[in-house]
Amino acid sequence: MALAFGTVSTAVGGVQAQGSPSADLPADVAAATIAPLKDYDREIVDQFDSANSVSHIRHLAVDIGPRLNGTPQEREGAEYIGGILKSYGFDVTIQSWGPVSTKNVAKVTSPNADLPGGPNWQMAASTSAKFTGNDAVVEGQVVYAKTGQSAADFPDDVAGKIVLMDYNATASVRNTAVVNAVSRGAVAVILAYPTGNSAPPSFTLTTAQPNIPVMGGGSAHYTWITDLLAKGPLTLRITTNQYVNPMGTNVIGVRHAVGDPTGTAAPIVMVGAHIDSVLGAPGAHDDASGNGVSLEIARVLSQYPLDKELRIGGFGGEEGGLLGAKAYVNTLTAAEKARFVGEWQMDMVGTPYEPARLWALTPNGQSNFVVQEAYNAAARAGFDGLRNCRLGQSDHQAFYDVGIPSSLFIWLDYRPPTPPAVCGPTGGTYVTEPQYHKPTDTMDNISPERLQITLDVVGGAVVHNALNAVTVSAISDAGQPLAGTPVRADCGNGLRDLGTTGADGRLQAVLPHATCDFTTTVEGRVATERGVSIAGDRAVKMTVDFTKPTISLTTPTDGAVFTLGTAATAAYRCDDNLSGVVTCTGTVPDGSLLDTSTVGFHEFTVKAADNAGNAADQKATYQVVYPWHAYFPEMMDGKAGSAVPIKFSLGGDHGTAVIASGYPVSRPVTCDSGKPTGSAESTSGPGNSKLSYGGGQYNYVWKTDRGWSNTCRQFELKLDDGSSHFTTIRLK
Ligand code: BES
Ligand code: ZN
Repeated sequence: MALAFGTVSTAVGGVQAQGSPSADLPADVAAATIAPLKDYDREIVDQFDSANSVSHIRHLAVDIGPRLNGTPQEREGAEYIGGILKSYGFDVTIQSWGPVSTKNVAKVTSPNADLPGGPNWQMAASTSAKFTGNDAVVEGQVVYAKTGQSAADFPDDVAGKIVLMDYNATASVRNTAVVNAVSRGAVAVILAYPTGNSAPPSFTLTTAQPNIPVMGGGSAHYTWITDLLAKGPLTLRITTNQYVNPMGTNVIGVRHAVGDPTGTAAPIVMVGAHIDSVLGAPGAHDDASGNGVSLEIARVLSQYPLDKELRIGGFGGEEGGLLGAKAYVNTLTAAEKARFVGEWQMDMVGTPYEPARLWALTPNGQSNFVVQEAYNAAARAGFDGLRNCRLGQSDHQAFYDVGIPSSLFIWLDYRPPTPPAVCGPTGGTYVTEPQYHKPTDTMDNISPERLQITLDVVGGAVVHNALNAVTVSAISDAGQPLAGTPVRADCGNGLRDLGTTGADGRLQAVLPHATCDFTTTVEGRVATERGVSIAGDRAVKMTVDFTKPTISLTTPTDGAVFTLGTAATAAYRCDDNLSGVVTCTGTVPDGSLLDTSTVGFHEFTVKAADNAGNAADQKATYQVVYPWHAYFPEMMDGKAGSAVPIKFSLGGDHGTAVIASGYPVSRPVTCDSGKPTGSAESTSGPGNSKLSYGGGQYNYVWKTDRGWSNTCRQFELKLDDGSSHFTTIRLK
């Protein structure tokens, strides 16, 4: 799903731009209608939908409820996340680690009331009272008994009821309240903070009251119960449990790289979030939200074959001191750590709390690869609200501590010191939203819009790094980088725009594991690299052929002369430097007979085109002539005014129109060198014959002029085959 401020997905002619052309459109129509696919970054990020994240958050924060470290709910959270990851094809490991400190918790539900904040409340069970276990459920109507310090505070009918009273900071006051409730037959006691936006308090009693469960409730619990009581009777169901030195739980989903199914070599891209919440808090924002985003990233990426290993971490015990993440990084071998590209930790990734902004926080306040990649993804999404500063306090610290680039992504009212404007070496301060670590950290503390931004920024960075980094360079066949040229690739599902090359002629693209045909077009020249195997980061070079194909024309050569009717075979070939010759076409095909059936000049053309779109042609003019035989000498003597017979043969009777128009002519020439001394004159005129044919010979009678005595004269007979024949006569 695109961000509101992002680029809207393209649909052309009502056809959604995606995949291969629709089956019910003819291929040519579909090709013309469907726009190229988007680059993979965009295509994948566009599929993120924060509504899916919200449904995961709801399951964790509402259906499961508070997930205190070491409790069954932390494990349930891990199992839920693991189940989803399994459905996306991940290998899932549930890690148990610990033990951790003993947890004393009360689970509070209602058989019939719609409890505000979710159906699973959690309070702090007092160790001075009874732990019911899961089976001995205490159910009763709730009555309110103020501070519980005197009889006047109590209603008449306390027996069998659950008594709500005001929590008091003084132990003896609390003790009196509980003693008074127990003596009136209460089945359970809740001491809740009346005000102050408090978390459930843990407390002991100065005199043991082992027979009924006693628990501390937060101020939200107090308000919710008293509001419900104002509307009518309220029944609650309570169990209290003491989990003695329990184990914490992590869930790790691994999706191996295509070519590295056992996970020994592929780079590792990891996202993390923590499963656990503090006592009493449903932890919708802190940190079901992080898992909701992780799972949506996992869903979308699981649809692509990848050459990077993807890991999704759901860590327990974060609130207890990053315990689960520390346990996890302790399981990593040195070789495994070295394979990490980075760890993108998401903790509180979308509260509607207005002053909160999206921060990339690192333990040392410095940017790193993980931060930088998030900035790049933010730029691709058109989001300029991301900032970097300094903070530990979440699981990224555990990765940082073992040398893995990591950052905490968090929507927080973080206040960098001023000056400097953004961040300094010591970092800043922060103000958390009012629901932070409280029973009110519910679905109301979740912003789908901000989750979507997190998906686009953190998810976008993860997508970018989970794909193969492919450097596509475009150069000319002369070795010049080609800047600003559009690069497209078809990786089996249609042509896709990858962008245009930069000033260095390069484009950084990201591609899944695929075999792709790359293509670019520069000034009408097309370069194509077919069947390129993308199985890791690599470079692809596209050389654009700007050179015309060459043509070598052996027969006919320009000026070649063939005798009428003789057999002559066309011989030519075309060659190309780079892209290969597509067409090489002559007037007749190479190896075929030339046309020698008519006299005169003939043009022969060869046209060549290469695969890049460069074209060349070459022309040759050849002449077809009659088989000539002259029955007159080159030089003769004559008398001015005489008639000179010019006899010749042309290999048969070709009719009498074989003389070129305007011919024959004669011109004066010098007798010694035969150089023309005047212009040619037509011989047509009185005394000159018409051409005649007979007995296999042509005969033309040329009448010389009386005035030409004592000169030399050249006679030229030009035929319609383009040939000229001469004789020179010395006149007396
Ligand atoms: N989600 C918080 C981290 C956080 C909270 C960062 C507020 C920045 C501002 C995390 O779950 C948490 O509460 N962490 C603990 C520290 C941890 C080492 C126990 C905290 O900040 O107190
Ligand atoms: Zn947290």
